Amino acid sequence: MKTLVENTAENHTPHIIVVGGTSGLGLALALHHQMLGWQVSVIGSNEAKIENVKRQHPTIKSYACDLTNVIQTQSLLDELSATSFQRLVYSAGSYTNERVHHLNQADSDKMLAINLQAFEQVFRWASAQLKQQHQSLDFTKDCRPSLICIASIAGTMDYPYASLYAKSKRAMISAASAYRAALAPYDIQVNCIASGYIDTQALRDLNDGDASHKPFIMNTQTAVDQIMQAIDDDVELAIFPRSMRYITRTLNYLPKPLLNWILRSKLDKPS
Ligand SMILES: NC(=O)c1ccc[n+]([C@@H]2O[C@H](COP(=O)([O-])OP(=O)(O)OC[C@H]3O[C@@H](n4cnc5c(N)ncnc54)[C@H](OP(=O)(O)O)[C@@H]3O)[C@@H](O)[C@H]2O)c1
Repeated sequence: MKTLVENTAENHTPHIIVVGGTSGLGLALALHHQMLGWQVSVIGSNEAKIENVKRQHPTIKSYACDLTNVIQTQSLLDELSATSFQRLVYSAGSYTNERVHHLNQADSDKMLAINLQAFEQVFRWASAQLKQQHQSLDFTKDCRPSLICIASIAGTMDYPYASLYAKSKRAMISAASAYRAALAPYDIQVNCIASGYIDTQALRDLNDGDASHKPFIMNTQTAVDQIMQAIDDDVELAIFPRSMRYITRTLNYLPKPLLNWILRSKLDKPS
């Protein structure tokens, strides 16, 4: 009997795993790949969202897993080790409106676990899997293996007053850069996405149902197009929209105490 790895290798349908692919940007990326003819698997923790994916997109494989639980995550990764894949996107994320000093313990634990610790657990597993596939099977002819993570433009600014969200996304950006260097000899591509505001339901929920006041907010399709372009062009760190990229680049040139003061007075406004 053939293993799943052999089956996928034979039929040459590329397979993408989207961690955090049951809603928002991750789901949009999953659907885009499905439209391109990829076999798609998504992971999320919310049962209602998983049921929704199953009902609306029956050909997408969905897995329930709480990424804040290391053991549960590892057992899912062990299960997925029998399946080959050519691309993994880590889009799972946790964000709130609160500044770092308002974070309660539960939000703080969740944010660190999802944005940083589970990301590292998943990337560690995924890079080992792709390296193993690199040695045993020649997938690169059809599709270069790739690891993609969704950070945030918030992580591109370096200042002491940054929130836990910004600091964990900054760590993700650094880790992705290290993985990119480490996996280059295996011809495995690693891209990190640092986008500005995207008009997803999660962002709208945090803003009483309407996030249109957020600066330079883009729709999800625009974000998907930008991400696909960044993957095609193999951009190490894709920062968009362009307007936000220029602003953050300029801010990063300022002396740190001044940047700290500006962001502190801006971010601490009640709205
Ligand atoms: N929207 C923006 O403005 C924006 C801007 C820059 C960067 N980003 C980043 O983009 C990514 C997606 O954001 P989004 O707006 O699309 O939010 P979203 O719809 O809430 O997507 C987050 C995904 O992560 C999954 N997830 C969250 N906690 C999980 C857990 N404990 N275990 C397993 N899966 C979990 C969610 O599934 P379940 O709910 O089923 O668990 C969902 O599939 C995030 O990393 C975010 O930081 C967003």
